[in-house]
Amino acid sequence: MQQSVDKKRRRLLVAAGTVVGGIGLAVTIVPFIESWNPSEKARSAGAPVSVDISKLEAGQQIAVGWRGKPVWVLRRTPRMLKDLQSAEIREQLRDPDSKVTSQQPVYAQNEFRSIKPEYLVVIGICTHLGCVPTFRPDVAPADLGPQWRGGYFCPCHGSRFDLAGRVYKGVPAPTNLVIPPYRFASDVEVIVGEDGVPAQGKG
Ligand code: FES
Repeated sequence: MQQSVDKKRRRLLVAAGTVVGGIGLAVTIVPFIESWNPSEKARSAGAPVSVDISKLEAGQQIAVGWRGKPVWVLRRTPRMLKDLQSAEIREQLRDPDSKVTSQQPVYAQNEFRSIKPEYLVVIGICTHLGCVPTFRPDVAPADLGPQWRGGYFCPCHGSRFDLAGRVYKGVPAPTNLVIPPYRFASDVEVIVGEDGVPAQGKG
């Protein structure tokens, strides 16, 4: 009888030990699983960035960081869009039709350099030596002259770009500003760094 009780106790102890071991395993695994989640480090290494554009008004621009670079999202006004199509401005540009394919994905190889004409998504780094141009949407300001119709001005060596990031002739920057891969997750959310297009189709 005593032997039977001892056997039962031993089985209970083994079972309890298995449960405790299981808890220990679970506790050990959790930090590993958490370490797989996207982190700030992963984001700076290239993870896509979501941009809320619900409060962006016409004529306004917001900046976000992606891969350690500034990315601007500009909501263009009807006047800005009209200027981008103007023959007078086009003839002052070095690559008005975005023929240099390395500067944008194929879906941004159009006169607005964008998926939706209203929104420009562009990397804010000058293609000369990498300074950050200033956003100058004002028309004909005293310092930029009467021809200026709004655009980006690089303070380092004077490169000028229009509001599609297209470079003007006669400045040091050799090419248009770069358009990153992006997509619209909805009417009010842009995802920068992801578009679902295979790499060879990005221009
Ligand atoms: S870095 Fe922009 S003009 Fe030189």
